[in-house]
Amino acid sequence: MDGPDGFDRLMSLVDYPMYVVTTRADDESAGCLVGFTSQVSIGPPRFLVGLSKRNHTYRVAQRADHLAVHLVPRRHGELAQLFGGETGDRSDKFAGCAWHSGPNGMPILDDAAGWFVGEVLSRYDVGDHVGFLLEPVAGSAPDKFEPLVTFSDVRDLDPGHEA
Ligand SMILES: Cc1cc2nc3c(=O)[nH]c(=O)nc-3n(C[C@H](O)[C@H](O)[C@H](O)COP(=O)(O)O)c2cc1C
Repeated sequence: MDGPDGFDRLMSLVDYPMYVVTTRADDESAGCLVGFTSQVSIGPPRFLVGLSKRNHTYRVAQRADHLAVHLVPRRHGELAQLFGGETGDRSDKFAGCAWHSGPNGMPILDDAAGWFVGEVLSRYDVGDHVGFLLEPVAGSAPDKFEPLVTFSDVRDLDPGHEA
């Protein structure tokens, strides 16, 4: 299969970890499920997060200095449902999960498998998403991961906002 259809099909077959990205600005918290992510540099360490322009999280992130990036254990798949299936435009996701205030005031999910906080260095308009380039400033990792939520677990989830 050639052309853009081939690309779409190829990407739909790739399985990759899903993240919940949270942030906070002007006393407003936000967060959503994100698949468009990658570490993009080792030295210095850099990580890129793609946020949809339609999302509540994107609008808060435009005013924020930092983002928190969480990996989600499969046994806490309800976090993926909450952050990917609902929108902060209509509900308070943070009333529906356990969290605490972490480095730089970022909301940290208590049931995450691991997380880091990154300072937003730049924003890139790449289409219907904006790439947020992060410099990691704090984080927490387990000795070993238990099974994590990946794209194949949530591909049929109806997103709170269409991409
Ligand atoms: C499989 C899957 C992957 C997603 N990937 C992204 C993504 O990379 N970036 C993004 O901004 N939203 C992504 N979303 C959509 C948001 O998680 C979803 O629309 C969420 O409800 C938005 O919440 P908000 O409006 O509170 O920010 C994805 C959703 C699903 C189900």
